[in-house]
Amino acid sequence: MNESRDLPWDGLLTHVQLVTLAGDDGYGVIEDGALGWRDGVLRFAGPSSRLPGEPARLAHETLSGGGRWVTPGLIDCHTHTVFAGDRAGEFEQRLQGASYEDIARAGGGIVSTVRATRAASEDELLAQSLPRARALLADGVTTLEIKSGYGLDFDNERKMLRVARRIGQMLGITVRTTFLGAHALPPEFSGRPDDYIDAVCQWLPQLHAEGLVDAVDAFCERIGFDAAQTRRVFEAARALGLPVKLHADQLSDGDGAALVAEFGGLSADHVEYTSEAGVRAMARAGSVAVLLPGAFHVLRETRLPPLDAFRTHNVPMAVATDCNPGTAPLQSLRLAMSLACTHFRLTPQEALRGTTAHAARALGLNDRGRLCEGMRADFALWDITQPAQLAYWLGGNLMAGVYVGGQRVG
Ligand code: NIG
Ligand code: FE
Repeated sequence: MNESRDLPWDGLLTHVQLVTLAGDDGYGVIEDGALGWRDGVLRFAGPSSRLPGEPARLAHETLSGGGRWVTPGLIDCHTHTVFAGDRAGEFEQRLQGASYEDIARAGGGIVSTVRATRAASEDELLAQSLPRARALLADGVTTLEIKSGYGLDFDNERKMLRVARRIGQMLGITVRTTFLGAHALPPEFSGRPDDYIDAVCQWLPQLHAEGLVDAVDAFCERIGFDAAQTRRVFEAARALGLPVKLHADQLSDGDGAALVAEFGGLSADHVEYTSEAGVRAMARAGSVAVLLPGAFHVLRETRLPPLDAFRTHNVPMAVATDCNPGTAPLQSLRLAMSLACTHFRLTPQEALRGTTAHAARALGLNDRGRLCEGMRADFALWDITQPAQLAYWLGGNLMAGVYVGGQRVG
């Protein structure tokens, strides 16, 4: 008989410093810690001294972390990673004084990425998008949200969502898909935004039936859709039992945060112009504020999100890359953490919680984002000497191993 079959765990990682984020405050550091897992789920996360036996008698495979630091796998909870082409030309235009809104109104912006995305086959779109997802993974991301929104017709939105799912399968990470049909008005609906919203609401059930939609988002803004149109999209989502989130109050206060809160939404994202009343509505609804400092940085914004109000009202703050070709060509979640600290004055600990525990909540996932028994064995090893270094270094290769469900993926 193979005695090893009786071992309690599949894997055991020892000689690591754990950043568990287990409580509501602090890093939750466990020095000389260990992780044990079975069937992809953590069965032990604690000090090595409390291991219930000799390592060789506990797990089929035992790894030494060599004294490295371990965090929960990072969670990028807001991205537009699937798209074709790029918009470096608009970057140059903006540096010469054009605003993001000027460019959008002149037929560039999101709609120019729509043209490129529609022209790409599914395989071409995958080939262009995969390196970005790989870059995020190489910086510790184990759960990645990807939105549609550059197809803006049924077939192309479907193509984007299928590519997103394929990325998850190919990289062995979790990809959560968000339907963002209401991202911009496609040219064939020019002057008819309400008809377009009707179409978006009609596509949703079919896309959902194909298993392509985990959540629904919209761009509620002067250059996007108004509150009444956003509301219709949310009602279509609610009819299918799908959670909602929103690009809210990014360039102006459109009461987006209050609207998404009214629907019990997972998150309001961007939120630079969100009012105190909006923050209070989010607090009541339990919605997360997703901060996107990459877009703030690239657009050279000056209006800060209401950070103190989020803290005062206990609205959890997440941090994401917003990886997209227009406002945030950003392929590192750690760099987003750094930008959140520098621009928004988050502490490095808040930034890490924002890309783990709070990001999980922004995706409606309660099985990850912390290192505790019962959570998924999604974790990253880092060559650092203290957790603040994750947000301190701008770039650089700190990642020394990424595991999803106890399997090494990076
Ligand atoms: O999150 N604001 C709307 N959506 C994206 C930008 C998309 C784009 O410009 O391509 C954002 O910033
Ligand atoms: Fe976005």
